[in-house]
Amino acid sequence: MSIRTICCIGAGYVGGPTMAVIADRCPGIQVTVVDLNQARIDAWNDPDLSKLPVYEPGLDAVVGRCRGRNLHFSTAVEPAIAAADMVFLSVNTPTKTKGVGAGQASDLRWIEASARQVAACAQGHTIVVEKSTLPVRTAETVQAILSAAQGDGASGGSPKTFAVLSNPEFLAEGTAIPDLEQPDRVLIGGDDPAAIEALVGVYGQWVPDQRILRTNLWSSELSKLTANAFLAQRISSINSIAALCEATGADVQEVAHAIGADSRIGGKFLKAGPGFGGSCLQKDILNLVYLCGHYGLHEVAAYWQSVVELNGWQQHRIARLVVQRLFGTVTGKRLAVLGFAFKADTNDTREAPAIRICQDLLEESAQLAIYDPKVSAAQMAEDLGPVGQEGAWEAVGTPLEAVAGADAVLILTEWASFAGLDWPQLAAPMRKPAWLFDARSIADLAAARAAGLNVWRVGMG
Ligand SMILES: NC(=O)c1ccc[n+]([C@@H]2O[C@H](COP(=O)([O-])OP(=O)(O)OC[C@H]3O[C@@H](n4cnc5c(N)ncnc54)[C@H](O)[C@@H]3O)[C@@H](O)[C@H]2O)c1
Repeated sequence: MSIRTICCIGAGYVGGPTMAVIADRCPGIQVTVVDLNQARIDAWNDPDLSKLPVYEPGLDAVVGRCRGRNLHFSTAVEPAIAAADMVFLSVNTPTKTKGVGAGQASDLRWIEASARQVAACAQGHTIVVEKSTLPVRTAETVQAILSAAQGDGASGGSPKTFAVLSNPEFLAEGTAIPDLEQPDRVLIGGDDPAAIEALVGVYGQWVPDQRILRTNLWSSELSKLTANAFLAQRISSINSIAALCEATGADVQEVAHAIGADSRIGGKFLKAGPGFGGSCLQKDILNLVYLCGHYGLHEVAAYWQSVVELNGWQQHRIARLVVQRLFGTVTGKRLAVLGFAFKADTNDTREAPAIRICQDLLEESAQLAIYDPKVSAAQMAEDLGPVGQEGAWEAVGTPLEAVAGADAVLILTEWASFAGLDWPQLAAPMRKPAWLFDARSIADLAAARAAGLNVWRVGMG
């Protein structure tokens, strides 16, 4: 079966960029991305490409090429499903906040709702692709919902039939476009060979066949959780060693380089920092922990749980050491915070380490001046919550504005522009003795020291 029309439910950080690249690389396929959120769809349709709801380098150019040609954004969910040969489910799957599994299990209400919508609106044969990250065996639920509608032909058309595939997305925010254009691999799980080959026919238009992996459904679902668990584990591992470096006089950059030279370990993802953030790593490990508990594998659950705990500890540790270095109190002191997004080159702040670190400092009654090139003040306010009451912090437009009268500057996101900060200019208006806390190892420490600042860098003993 050759795919001519695709509908993607969910126009978020995954659905938007992924479908834009599919449309770009497959000019013969009409792709419609639908979402219930009118404001989000309006932003995707904004004639000004700098106003897209997701910031990703290169995304504006891809959307600019395809939108209106074979890429469409709409809130009209039902007709888009009805017209589609293939429907991607790319809805949010956050950690449950209440009920059974609260704090660990994924909340599958949006997956269930979108599967029900597909069951109701699809016509003829439809391939349903799980793009969201899901607990292993979710495809069973999706299949059960679709099976209940299978065979219906109420509108007089051909009876409905469905095939379900798992096709988790491995893009990383900040590099989504190159990750999608040249993926390390595309993973397709399923038990219907024709459906699998139909999806291979989409990716095969730009991804070499040896990079397209075919597995059973459960391996595919579990591989995504496992990949994120391993990535997060590497970050927690190097951050644990960073703390030991600070205590012993070792330097985590030298240790990372030395161990990364071993080809069995490899040099990537060994950068110490303020801990991992983003919507996925913590959520997916917690989900893994929940699943392990569900299957009675309590030791395995505890092992992965410790990766999340170490991450939270690292964030609190950084806030604590800022307070310690500033003579044990930050009450009423102005602290400049550079970077709020969870990583560079994204406007996404979900689970950003900056949130917890800023909240801890606000709890200590610090006055924060926060600068981020892509995060809005409204987003910061939402993330900081009640502890960020009015007057306790402000969003500023430049690093220079942030440091005026500050006792310290904290770098919490690795925006490339922070590597070239003009330290003599920034240090001048700070209150002395003043500190630079570089949690991302990006600043020019020699220049900061020469400008009279005391300096702390993560993992530098
Ligand atoms: N963000 C990432 O880097 C990333 C990477 C890989 C995988 N994932 C996974 O992809 C999935 C989506 O993540 P995201 O970051 O794009 O989430 P998101 O919250 O940015 O987007 C999800 C969108 O789905 C919409 N939606 C929910 N239910 C709907 C429905 N019934 N009909 C229409 N629209 C609906 C929401 O309004 C929202 O705009 C999650 O499972 C996530 O774990 C995310």
